[in-house]
Amino acid sequence: MNESSQTLVEKSFTFEDCGGSQSLTVSIPEVLDPQYGMYVWPCAVVLSQYVWMARSELQHKTVLELGAGVSLPGVVAAKCGARVILSDSAELPLCLRNCWRSCDVNHLPNVPVIGLTWGQVSPELLLLPPVDVILGSDVFYEPEDFEDVLVTVSFIVRRNPHAQLWTTYQERSADWSIDALLHKWDLKCINVPLETFDANKNHLAGSTLPGNHTVQMMIITRQVF
Ligand SMILES: C[S@@+](CC[C@H](N)C(=O)[O-])C[C@H]1O[C@@H](n2cnc3c(N)ncnc32)[C@H](O)[C@@H]1O
Repeated sequence: MNESSQTLVEKSFTFEDCGGSQSLTVSIPEVLDPQYGMYVWPCAVVLSQYVWMARSELQHKTVLELGAGVSLPGVVAAKCGARVILSDSAELPLCLRNCWRSCDVNHLPNVPVIGLTWGQVSPELLLLPPVDVILGSDVFYEPEDFEDVLVTVSFIVRRNPHAQLWTTYQERSADWSIDALLHKWDLKCINVPLETFDANKNHLAGSTLPGNHTVQMMIITRQVF
């Protein structure tokens, strides 16, 4: 598919406080194409809700989104005052284009978009500024890629020992596990129950996307021995 043949549809997401005193609406252009990275995944809405609820922690922090695709969590973080860098595979220029497009639609001209392929120690990875938070929505979806994702995360947290990966994943198989890989790459994780950030709902941010999917949230950090 070339760029000119893409059909775009814009979706809006509205994040609100419990009392409705503050809200944020962002628009995400989606491409009508079944490939990964072309539209918002249920995990992205849940992770964006976490970002929205944690927004006071993100002011002026540097946030890197991995496998961003159409970039809902990164766009929400940027709108909440974080310095955001969006990334997707260096080998998927159309996904990188989606990152640019989401920034454009949300008036975020200064958000850099970089090609960052999991598991590769590339110049783009080496040249990253200090990172505080890494976002990863549905990046643990192909078991063959799990280790590559964690290699990239491990590289970043070795350089930035306080950095955290905030990630959501969808339970697609009963034997889903990253425990051995976390141990191998000196990482540890905690699960964050959805009810602690008001995300235990089928409807979120005005979207029905979470639906009945089983989405989980976890925070991965460096394991210090
Ligand atoms: C399931 S989609 C999730 C997209 C987006 N984060 C969301 O939740 O809406 C996985 C994303 O990972 C990206 N991706 C796949 N393989 C990758 C790799 N080896 N390195 C970096 N990104 C990759 C895809 O282009 C896609 O954007």
